[in-house]
Amino acid sequence: MSYKVRISGVGGYVPPQVLSNKDLERIVDTSDEWILRRTGIRERRILKGKNTSYMGVQAVKSMLKSTGIDPSSVDLLICGTNTSETVFPGAGNLIVHTCGMDKASCFDLQAGCSGFLHALRMGTFAISSGGAKRAVIVGMDKMSSVVDYADRRNCVLFGDGGGCVLLEETQGSNEIVDFHIETDGSKTDLLCKKAGEGPGPFPDVKPKDRDLYFHHDGATIFKLATMGMADVCRKIVDRNNLNINQIDWLIPHQANLRILQSVRANLDLPEEKVLYNLDNYGNTSAASIPLCLWNFEKKFQPGDNILLVTFGAGLSWGVSYLRWSYKVSS
Ligand code: ACO
Repeated sequence: MSYKVRISGVGGYVPPQVLSNKDLERIVDTSDEWILRRTGIRERRILKGKNTSYMGVQAVKSMLKSTGIDPSSVDLLICGTNTSETVFPGAGNLIVHTCGMDKASCFDLQAGCSGFLHALRMGTFAISSGGAKRAVIVGMDKMSSVVDYADRRNCVLFGDGGGCVLLEETQGSNEIVDFHIETDGSKTDLLCKKAGEGPGPFPDVKPKDRDLYFHHDGATIFKLATMGMADVCRKIVDRNNLNINQIDWLIPHQANLRILQSVRANLDLPEEKVLYNLDNYGNTSAASIPLCLWNFEKKFQPGDNILLVTFGAGLSWGVSYLRWSYKVSS
């Protein structure tokens, strides 16, 4: 399988405000030592005084600057996010408007931490079927807006950020080759944020504010993520007649260093092939994979075999196999 579509540019943005493990020690009963040992996270970035779409705009602007493309040549923008500041319209509309993409249609796609991967697949399908020539795929989340900072099991894990890729048609063979995404809707409750509702006219039915925060069953998610991410990687490697040794880079959703290490060991990949930024950013949800592509873009060579693998709310988890198509001049 292959799509005649390539990633031809990346962009990213993280806010300047740092929330370190030491800072969290002053907010909840935790310690730098516990967080680092159990998650691998040292610090995360927090967006203050601005909304989620701001990060998407900054990420897309950085991609526009590095690629030099004319924003009005973009036909489609798909925004994977769970924390849009508006229920409708989608946050992508603000990005399109602010970045001068006056010819692009756009929509938001909400699929937990796997949102970027789902959006990448939809954008790839749109181009390969002739529906678009250039698409921008954004992953962004302001997790600090949905995390309960009184709950030490959750608040240490997450940070804010946004990333994007540019997709274009290609006639070459360095292209997006395959996707495999699975969903198990029976486990919705394991990882969920209820929709926010106003209290309505009857004060006695006002929900407790805490009910509106994101919650998850960390230990169960840990086990399912470890198994699910390794499983889909093996499936895509096998059906593309690859040997795992031919994979140059594994870019996993940045949930917990122990999950990533377990997936790596399960696949028998050398440590240096697994890329991560969660020590500095924590789990940025839909932003984590495009932020990694942005952080490590200089490492990639044309033809490198890359797996992007995610796990998140839904539950939904999956993988994309692609051959990198360009080299950044340093
Ligand atoms: N600081 C100090 N102690 C803590 C903290 C903390 N921040 N959090 C929990 N503890 C305590 C617990 O209370 C417990 O204490 P007890 O034994 O006295 O009851 C002890 O540490 C062990 O708790 P566990 O929950 O068993 O710790 P675990 O090693 O499982 O780590 C964690 C918890 C980090 C949440 C882990 O389960 C994890 O990473 N899970 C997956 C998270 C994830 O990937 N989520 C999905 C992504 S989110 C998305 O898709 C939007």
